[in-house]
Parts: sequence; structure tokens; C-alpha cells
Amino acid sequence: MIPISKPFLTAEEAQQAYDTILSGWITQGPKVTEFEKNIAEYVGTKYAIAVSNCTTALHLAMLVSEISAGDEVICPSLSYIATANAIKYVNAIPVFAEINPLTYNLDIDDVERKITKKTKAILLVHQIGMPADIDEFSSLAKKYNLKIIEDAACAVGSSYKGKKIGNHSDLVCFSLHPRKVITTGDGGFITTNREDYYERLKLLRQHGMSVNDRERHVSKKVIFENHLEIGYNYRLTDIQASVGIKQLEKLDWIVSERRKIAHKYHEAFKNISYLKIPQEENGYYSNYQSYSIYLEKNCPISRNELMQQMLNFGIATRRGIMTIHREIAYKKEFQNISLPITENVSDNSILLPLFVPMSESDFDYIVSKFLEIILK
Ligand SMILES: Cc1ncc(COP(=O)(O)O)c(C=O)c1O
Repeated sequence: MIPISKPFLTAEEAQQAYDTILSGWITQGPKVTEFEKNIAEYVGTKYAIAVSNCTTALHLAMLVSEISAGDEVICPSLSYIATANAIKYVNAIPVFAEINPLTYNLDIDDVERKITKKTKAILLVHQIGMPADIDEFSSLAKKYNLKIIEDAACAVGSSYKGKKIGNHSDLVCFSLHPRKVITTGDGGFITTNREDYYERLKLLRQHGMSVNDRERHVSKKVIFENHLEIGYNYRLTDIQASVGIKQLEKLDWIVSERRKIAHKYHEAFKNISYLKIPQEENGYYSNYQSYSIYLEKNCPISRNELMQQMLNFGIATRRGIMTIHREIAYKKEFQNISLPITENVSDNSILLPLFVPMSESDFDYIVSKFLEIILK
């Protein structure tokens, strides 16, 4: 069976976790601090704050942006449900906009149409690792005095106009779930250049505590913590961070290997008129967190049948990115909205296996079976 994805973890990560466990300090502590420093350096920001996952990162981003009840936040429906859930956590209203079918990212014209007096922010997703047009969206946000929060759950290691994703906006949220390019089991982080955001994010991820466990532990004087506001337990552990430190060292190499495989897929499919491969504009650099193909109407086989036949050959695939507004949790509230492009892309795209390392023989087998099925 060829899986859809596999994390690239080795004995090095296991050794790091082992050493941390035996060090006696296993929750948020020195390894988290080191990991944060390394992330900030890698991305090129002043600060990085490690948290338990990207969903909690997004929740905190909403809180520090002071988005609250009744505010509207524009985001795609073509995304993982956590994108919209984070908006709901602060009782704000997700307003779903259409996407560009070739990049899977927000369509700026539709976003502009959906701006109202209640709009506070645009939640810009870099879907499956392909950067959205951050400059264009930042100009739009400036024009209407809106905030930009980036949902870069899938985009660790991607770049936009020569700078790593994480470097462009005040709040950029990442995931380290095993389905992402690097992983800590579960995990996430936020990057920012704003000191005020950094200080508040640190408070909010740890119960609003004025002094963290580590500071209290190493202090030569007795110190007492205060709880300055109602916070959360959104900590990453030192065990996870020690794995993350090793993963981060390998990130650029993993991304370059993923890109080689993605380009081989491009080559294999580019001349088949009813297959649309992902579009990467000049200056954009995707980590290819997933490899998605859109099947045009005249594709001789339906997406679901194609998935079944691939599975019969022992090859896992996944449906395209979900639509949030059609999920049971959202359906009733959003029954009257119309997002035909989003629905069409979700229903007619397929994700193919992409992981590092992928053997030549696995790659050839996937492509040959895929072509055999669709060209039959
Ligand atoms: C676009 C997007 N946002 C948010 C998330 C949530 O990330 P996590 O699983 O780390 O909470 C995901 C996860 O798949 C995602 O794809």
C-alpha cells in the first residue's frame, strides 16, 4: 500500500525525544525556547511562539487581534474546518469567499465584494502550501483598514517573493501535525515582529501567568506568579520541541525533495487537457504540502471512481480540500450562500501521494496506474 503521506522522522528525532525525557524537563521549557529561537531565525522574524497546534495558534491570533462577537472575518470555505472554527471561538462570523481554482487560494475580487462595515480581518490561507498573494491582500487590507492573519498551517518552508512564509504579516500561524511537511506529532507556532503581540501570546498560551514554570524553577529567589487574564493551556511540550528542532534543520531539504516529486508529477500530467496541475506563479515557492490535481468536466472518469480504482491498485489518494460551509456543523447557518467555484474544485480534485523519500519505483507505479485508469 502506498500511503498519501509519511512524516520524515529518523533515529535523530527519536534520540532528541529520548534525551529530553531523561532530562527531567518535559513540558514547555528550554527546548521550547530553543525551538522558538530557531524558528524565528529560519523565518526571519523577531519572535516565534510555540503552541499546541495551529488551531490554538489561530484562536490566539484572533484574541490578540481583538476580533470579537459580531465581527466578520473573510476566509475561504475551501479549507480545513479549523480555519473557520477559530473565528467561531471568539463568536465572530466567518464570511466565506471564493477561490482561484488554479491556486486553491482566495480570490481577491470576491474578497473585496464581501467586505462590509463589520469586516475586521482577512484570514489568508496558503492552501496546501501554495502561497496566497500576500502583497495584494495586504494592499486591500490597508485600503479598508482590516487586519491580515495568515493561516499558514500547510506552508512551513514555503516562500513568497524571496521571503519565507511567516515573514510578511503581523500574525502567521503554522501547524506541525504529521500531515504537514515537518512535524512534532501535534504542534504549532505563531510568528510575529510585534513585541506587544509576542508578550500577550506568551501569556495567553499559559493561563495568563505572569511568570512561567521554568522561570520559577531556575529562580534563586522565591517568586510568585500572578494570573493577569483568563488564558489557556496551549503549550507545546519540550519533548515535541526537541523533535521540532531536528525537523527544522531538515526542512529546506525536505521541501526541495518534495518539489522534485511535484515537478515530476507536473511533467507526467501537463499534456493531458482535462487535468489541471497546481499553478505556481513567478516568485512563489510552494512546499507542496499536498499534490492536488483538478479534473475538468471532460475527464473520462469521476473523481470518486478514480480514487476507488487507485485504491484497488494499493495507492491511497484523498478527495480535494473540504468545503467548510457544507459540513454539518456549518450547513444550517450557511445554507443560502453560493460558492460554485469552491464546491466544484472540492468535488473534482484529488490529492496524490507525496512524501520524502519516495522511491522511483513507487513514483512510476503511481503515475502509470493513474494514467492507465484515466486513459482507459
Ligand atoms: C488550513 C488549515 N488550517 C488549520 C489547520 C489546523 O491545524 P492543526 O491540526 O495543527 O490544529 C489545518 C490542519 O490541517 C489546516 O490545513
